[in-house]
Amino acid sequence: MRRVDEVINERLASGVPLVREVAQYIISAGGKRLRPALLLLTAQAISCDNPDRHVLAAVVEFIHTATLLHDDVVDESTLRRGRDTANERFGNAASVLVGDFLYSRAFQMMVGVDNMRVMQVLAEATNVIAEGEVLQLMNMHDATLDEAGYLQVIRSKTAKLFEASARLAPILAQSGAELEEACATYGQALGTAFQVIDDVLDYEGDALELGKNLGDDLREGKVTLPIICAMQRANADQAQLMTNAIVNGELSHLPEILTIVRETGALEAARSSAAAEARRAIDAAEQLPHSQAREALIELAASLLVRRT
Ligand code: IPE
Ligand code: IPE
Ligand code: MG
Ligand code: MG
Repeated sequence: MRRVDEVINERLASGVPLVREVAQYIISAGGKRLRPALLLLTAQAISCDNPDRHVLAAVVEFIHTATLLHDDVVDESTLRRGRDTANERFGNAASVLVGDFLYSRAFQMMVGVDNMRVMQVLAEATNVIAEGEVLQLMNMHDATLDEAGYLQVIRSKTAKLFEASARLAPILAQSGAELEEACATYGQALGTAFQVIDDVLDYEGDALELGKNLGDDLREGKVTLPIICAMQRANADQAQLMTNAIVNGELSHLPEILTIVRETGALEAARSSAAAEARRAIDAAEQLPHSQAREALIELAASLLVRRT
């Protein structure tokens, strides 16, 4: 991971000072570096010591960071990684453009690896993430969105990059289709569970620990699993209140809605969907050969269910 951070810092270089400033600003705030860790752990689990793995780990972190720069503009978010978002600090234009810089820098780096399958996987992942974000935009203010519709969005916007991160080491190492699919399934399930928990934390997390503001999803009319589960469990009056908030952005009853979400058991229901995905991730990891890295992957899937950051 130290090597990955070195690559990240080397490749942020630009002759344009504002590019460096904005990119450094968001990257130096940290973040969990979960996707690079996933890439390196899967590499270790399949005994891949290809030196390109650090470059590719930096590539997935750049793609992730670019999506965050754009996502915070679209979501009008003001807090990320415990700091003002880049859009709050530098404005929307700088955020969008530096996001483009990071995407295109990621593509320069992956071309340098000179492996057509690697490029295919990363190009596809980047494209599917963009589709997922657009699909989510189309679903805004739709109170009839169900779990299947929600899952389609998160598999695209979040799980796809986890899947790509987990698939790259087996591709580099030419480990064969079976190991590649086990890693990919692990990544996809992990990413899905990760986003479900993120959406739960938007209702019941701690903003200080999370480094993001809570309640943004409902405030902007974004329908996520906690609200879908609450709708299924609510009585007619409660459902009407939630529909009004989602469809019309009627925010005066927000505190009551939060109570409904809590009291209907919707958060537990969403958490148990995440647990089922984590179980699927663990089953996939168990198809890998025994190793310390495999145990770490299994632990990662379990620990994600109780994460607070
Ligand atoms: C945030 O991802 C966006 C989601 C997919 C929920 P992370 O929670 O991995 O963000 P950082 O990199 O750790 O800040
Ligand atoms: C994650 O969605 C964004 C991407 C994967 C592009 P969210 O909008 O839920 O993420 P946060 O909550 O802003 O981190
Ligand atoms: Mg967001
Ligand atoms: Mg969120």
